[in-house]
Amino acid sequence: MSDNQQDRAALVGESRLDDKVLDVLGAYHRRMDEERRAPRQEAPGGRDGGQDQRMRAVGPQTGRFLNILVRSLTAPTILELGTSFGYSGIWLAEAARATGGKLITMEVHGYKSAYAQAMAEKAGLAEHIDFRVGDAVAMIRELRGKVDFVLVDLWKDLYLPCLEAFYPKLNAGAIVVADNMIYPATEDVKIYARAIRAKAGISSVLLPVGSGLEVSRYEPE
Ligand SMILES: C[S@@+](CC[C@H](N)C(=O)[O-])C[C@H]1O[C@@H](n2cnc3c(N)ncnc32)[C@H](O)[C@@H]1O
Repeated sequence: MSDNQQDRAALVGESRLDDKVLDVLGAYHRRMDEERRAPRQEAPGGRDGGQDQRMRAVGPQTGRFLNILVRSLTAPTILELGTSFGYSGIWLAEAARATGGKLITMEVHGYKSAYAQAMAEKAGLAEHIDFRVGDAVAMIRELRGKVDFVLVDLWKDLYLPCLEAFYPKLNAGAIVVADNMIYPATEDVKIYARAIRAKAGISSVLLPVGSGLEVSRYEPE
């Protein structure tokens, strides 16, 4: 590995990622830095009628943690709720490729999903991702087959309806990760945490990784 590659790998704390993936993660990290510096322009609640250009991405710590978790599974079907511009999907799809799995990612806005798809192609990961555009709650209900991993990272008032929709579709041993459980700690995410902890077969813990992750595992009784 060259010095340049080592530097880039150290940036994301990961030495096994290939060049294409590191390049794409680097481009996302630069965009995140620009976003952090730019003044925020958005309607209250973050919904601006489809003109939203902010990535709202999970960030490198959480991305790497998702990658580690998924790499511990065998050929998992991964469900991502909230594609946005595709950052977390790169970490998930890289782990899907490494384990023989696949990623199904859902996003309500077509322009975000199209950007995510173009980035996944640059990263050499597009063939491992099924991009779906529409309302996640409705699309989860239509999902055929079961899932082994879920990332919950869309508008917070949808966490509970999504949980109700995907819970019957969890395979034994499935892992569910929900983002923004510590920051911003909204009433909606607290409702989600109580609800998933009350489900039969669920073990769950809140971890201070990134913006706070509720990590839950399903094992039927
Ligand atoms: C926090 S961002 C996701 C960030 C992404 N996981 C990442 O780390 O790169 C939340 C996304 O959920 C999307 N979203 C909101 N409501 C949705 C719905 N009903 N169905 C699908 N996606 C939705 C938003 O458009 C937004 O892009």
